[in-house]
Amino acid sequence: MNEHDMSTFWHWWVVVLTLANIAGIYWLILWTSKKRPGEAAEGAETGHSWDGLTEYNNPLPRWWLWMFYITILFALVYLVLYPGLGRYAGILGWHSGNELNLADSQYIREQQRAEERYQPIFAAMADRDISSLARDFDALTTGRRLYLNYCATCHGSDARGASGFPNLANGIWQWGGSAEEIRHSIVHGRQAAMPGLAAALGDEGVEQVAHYVLQLSGRDDANSALASEGESKYNMFCSGCHGAEGKGMAMLGAPDLTANTWLYGGSLGAIKKTIAEGRAGVMPAFGELLGEERAHVLSAYVYSLDRQ
Ligand code: HEC
Ligand code: HEC
Repeated sequence: MNEHDMSTFWHWWVVVLTLANIAGIYWLILWTSKKRPGEAAEGAETGHSWDGLTEYNNPLPRWWLWMFYITILFALVYLVLYPGLGRYAGILGWHSGNELNLADSQYIREQQRAEERYQPIFAAMADRDISSLARDFDALTTGRRLYLNYCATCHGSDARGASGFPNLANGIWQWGGSAEEIRHSIVHGRQAAMPGLAAALGDEGVEQVAHYVLQLSGRDDANSALASEGESKYNMFCSGCHGAEGKGMAMLGAPDLTANTWLYGGSLGAIKKTIAEGRAGVMPAFGELLGEERAHVLSAYVYSLDRQ
């Protein structure tokens, strides 16, 4: 929140509530550690007993009490140094930044410092080609850090993907596995378009073509009678993208159907669903977010994954 959009009322509301809380905790500690009249003497039994366990009236351990006092002191010092009490900005002048003053924020300043430090390293790596960088330990370490930051959420920290998110480490590439193709996938993103063909094929046709796809993958759950019915339909509707032999086409992102490796699952049901309804996987473009040089190092890391 920035200091301009907090009204006076809320400013004091936060101040009073925060300080009252700290004072309340302090009071609670004093109160619990004080001896009260009528209480059992220190070290004596209180008279409470559960299942044969009796309670002694021992004071709180000193170190434990001190921990409490120290945390209270810490809170007070923190609130003097940093923003926390309503509109009060803290004497260090730290702020997380806002639309009005982003350039001066702590975050941006730290980012600039990091940029100055790492820029020469990335620049040096950007001059080398991807396949040679892919054998450079430092480049791969840096690339892996970038990967974990930007890519692991979808492709997994081991790069083995998940349903709908391709495995980047198995040597099977939907959009091509050359250095340039991998770089293109990262910088510009990819937008797959597999049309739904339920209307063209009918239920029976979908079933037949699906069995033909199983057969292409060398699966023993393919029904050969259905598959041979499916073959002509495949040649008519599918070979334009997936190729006459089912080996796929990197330019269109049409997967190799003979590899028995599936982006959307290899069960008969999943394959029928793909054929009937189509699929439209999207790999977002990262060029702008990463910049040329980081994208280059990251490409080398991804390139190295299936070549280890
Ligand atoms: C216009 C080009 C095009 C046509 C025509 C086409 N496909 Fe596809 N197919 C694709 C693309 C692109 C993908 C990848 C979809 C994605 O990544 O979201 C795909 C994906 C698939 C998949 C999923 C593979 C996996 O790994 O899960 C199967 C199965 C498939 N197609 C079979 C077929 C069959 C069978 C036909 C004909 C009935 C067909 N396709 C027609 C382009 C096409
Ligand atoms: C929001 C999820 C998401 C994120 C984040 C993401 N990807 Fe992807 N990526 C995908 C999807 C989905 C596809 C498959 C698109 C399709 O169906 O063809 C893909 C495809 C790819 C491909 C092409 C794979 C092939 O077989 O040709 C590469 C390479 C790739 N991603 C690398 C990366 C890298 C490197 C990053 C980190 C900068 C990244 N991805 C971040 C979702 C994501």
